[in-house]
Amino acid sequence: MVSLRNESHLSDLARRAGKATLGNPRQSAEMISFYAGFPDPGSLPIADVIDSTRVALEADGEWALQYGASAGDERIIEELLKKLARDQKIDAAPENILVTNGASQALSLIVDLLVEPGDTIISEAPTWMGAVANFNQAGADVRTVSVDDDGTNTSELRAILEELRSEGRRAKLLYVIPNFQNPMGVTMSLERRHELLAIADEFDLPIIEDDAYFDLRYSGAALPALYTLDSSGRVMYMGTFSKIMAAGMRLGWLIAHEDVISRLLPLKSDGGTSPFGSFVATEFAASGTLLEHVQELRALYHQRRDAMLAALEREMPDGTSWTTPDGGFFIWLRFPEAVEMATLVPACRARGVEISPGPIFYFDERGSNEMRLSYSFATEPQIDEGIAILAAEARKQLATVGS
Ligand SMILES: Cc1ncc(COP(=O)(O)O)c(C=O)c1O
Repeated sequence: MVSLRNESHLSDLARRAGKATLGNPRQSAEMISFYAGFPDPGSLPIADVIDSTRVALEADGEWALQYGASAGDERIIEELLKKLARDQKIDAAPENILVTNGASQALSLIVDLLVEPGDTIISEAPTWMGAVANFNQAGADVRTVSVDDDGTNTSELRAILEELRSEGRRAKLLYVIPNFQNPMGVTMSLERRHELLAIADEFDLPIIEDDAYFDLRYSGAALPALYTLDSSGRVMYMGTFSKIMAAGMRLGWLIAHEDVISRLLPLKSDGGTSPFGSFVATEFAASGTLLEHVQELRALYHQRRDAMLAALEREMPDGTSWTTPDGGFFIWLRFPEAVEMATLVPACRARGVEISPGPIFYFDERGSNEMRLSYSFATEPQIDEGIAILAAEARKQLATVGS
């Protein structure tokens, strides 16, 4: 048997990816967890999914339980195109869509399509840790732009592209999360969206628009997707059922120019993205349950956000700042510099509170006094208790430094 202890057997990709231990998402249920972007457990629509499953199997069980088309089953494609036209105002045809194993798969397929080791990807930082892992595994040269209350910093984007041009290089990709950015919770303004597209046109830059949280807006009006503002075909738009139905469905989608889809299809050799799950999700959407469920989720997460903002206001030491999201799951918090995540994370964990340290959202060493707070998973009483513990531990650190 080949022993993989000898690294010479491994591919470069596997070497870059390193080793992982088996994860156990159930652990979070035993803690007050502000860690993951998990949907609220109590909101998961178990009874409705049972109904949708029964209807889907009775109507077309033979095909629900068969291999499927790589691009996705035609009925889920039809439902998604309707949803996207109605909610996101995205006008797309069946040749523009790929149903994927979560938005995560859409991202890795695009990276497979465009990026060789050493190629440049431009990404927001901080950003979603799935993207951090993916771009690192690809061996990409990642250049980062910061994010402020209006979204991606477009002046920094231009500066990076000019620098690359002066080196005789170009970026293969720009990755952005315009709505309720993960981890910062901020939304890109309309002005920035236009600026970003103008820059992308000038430098012929492909864009991944990750819109995982689009439906979960609870204040302010929806802004047009980069995909709809662009007329060049350079935007690839990702979405997911994870936050609006169930993360366990592992169903997402990619909308892109048909040339992109036809190039991605041969890279997606998986016998179809869970035909069974797709049939269930189709029924869930076609029956109107999805729309109703999204309304309930908006109200729920709105309350959770308000509870967390109130707790932060009440508890946090002076010199701490945080964002106010209009939707999604996340608040980004910056402590005074003396507060170190390396100490705060274990101290909170010892008191039953799980937090996400800032550095995991960066491609370099930044973020040691920053963190993401997810308010989707913890209940309101847990939010009150957990934020009080977090603030107490931060104060302890500040007191040590001050003494
Ligand atoms: C910004 C962002 N993109 C993509 C994903 C992945 O979604 P999926 O569960 O569809 O793979 C997540 C999940 O946390 C996310 O936060």
